[in-house]
Amino acid sequence: MQKFVITGGRRLCGELALQGSKNSSLPIMAAALLCCGDCTLHSCPKLTDVYAAARILNCVGCKCSFEGNTAVINSENIGSTEISEELMREMRSSIIFMGAMLGRAGECTVSVPGGCELGPRPIDMHLAALRKMGVDIRESGGSIICKAPSGRAKGAKISLAFPSVGATENIILCAVTADGETVINNAAREPEICDLCGFLRSCGADISGDGESRIIINGKHQLHGCEYTIMPDRIVCATYLSMVAATKGELILTNACVPETEPFLSVLEQTGCSIYTSEKKIYLRSGSRLRAVRDRIRTMPHPGFPTDAQAVLMAALCVADGTSVFEENIFDCRYRHTDAFVKMGADIQVLGKVAVIKGREKLHGANVEATDLRGGAAMVIAALCAEGSSEISRICHIDRGYEKMEEAVGLFGGDMRRV
Ligand code: EPZ
Repeated sequence: MQKFVITGGRRLCGELALQGSKNSSLPIMAAALLCCGDCTLHSCPKLTDVYAAARILNCVGCKCSFEGNTAVINSENIGSTEISEELMREMRSSIIFMGAMLGRAGECTVSVPGGCELGPRPIDMHLAALRKMGVDIRESGGSIICKAPSGRAKGAKISLAFPSVGATENIILCAVTADGETVINNAAREPEICDLCGFLRSCGADISGDGESRIIINGKHQLHGCEYTIMPDRIVCATYLSMVAATKGELILTNACVPETEPFLSVLEQTGCSIYTSEKKIYLRSGSRLRAVRDRIRTMPHPGFPTDAQAVLMAALCVADGTSVFEENIFDCRYRHTDAFVKMGADIQVLGKVAVIKGREKLHGANVEATDLRGGAAMVIAALCAEGSSEISRICHIDRGYEKMEEAVGLFGGDMRRV
């Protein structure tokens, strides 16, 4: 098993072009199932989760190939509507293939995704919405067997109890080829939803309202292939900004999605670092020790502070001057990284959904284990701020979402090796 060996204490400076978004790529790859003809996706990040999505596509009979950061998917001849439990288990977001396969074939068999590192991850909202669209769903021995009786789901009016990203994506994927109009109230407003809709519109889908709470979709009989560029990854953006800010460094990020990153930038700015933005660039300078964030940092659905950026900002605030408070409102179990920070000398108290971080002048190196994707990335940040050497194991979690993080850190002048 590979690990990262990091020697901290250096001021990181550099420039980086951001990778494409993982959380856009996955639903867009699933959406390619709905299209007749080639879908060419540019800026597709080279990540284990993306390769897991490609394996699902290939298994059901699509042809999915990569050249650099371009993926080409052809779904003309699918031979199966069943996704094996083994493939479903590889990544939790495989559940979005349910809506896409229903939209394509009117039926599918997938398996119950179960919990994950972030705690229980139910799919009750996904299932209730699809049922409302006329899909018969049976759960049997860990399998979910779905069938639209007439071969096509029906448009429906759906009100989500919570703006779930995955449920919104599944409904959209099923609705774009359903019979009639679907309205989603209280839809997720995340930028990745807009990216999925942008891709689907390029394939001929009729969707409006994405980015707002009410999305309206008029089903079409068939979609066609297209060429599309995936949006930049706003969470990778938040990660490298937190990393460089924490080491009192300087960073230019190109290929950035500035408006989409604003909810994070407005909080990071409160730490005292200077941030300048232009159309697709973010420039950050952090000459001195960060200040704690005065207001409680509450994770919320977009446009609130993103839960995926909670751990990476917390790593930076472990060495800030003063006390910062986080409130995690999206996932039940998203503070598992804090034990590693404490092992590195951080002062953190967690009580339920609240974490109180009293900034320390210094952290020290330690051997820790990545608990999940963003938590693992946050441990890299803490190790880069710490005095001495750290080892981070189970980095397979980090490789799910970051293209060769050690190369980016090396470019910034950091000492980080994969061994
Ligand atoms: C997406 O997960 C992202 N994953 C997550 O990113 C992200 O943290 C999350 O949205 C929130 O922004 C992808 O896009 C692939 P949800 P998703 O459905 O769709 C509960 C990362 O680090 N819920 O919005 O699974 C659920 O348990 C990852 O890149 C139900 O109760 O998130 C959670 O508490 C991790 N029932 C909350 O809603 C349901 O049917 C939000 O989940 C569905 C969700």
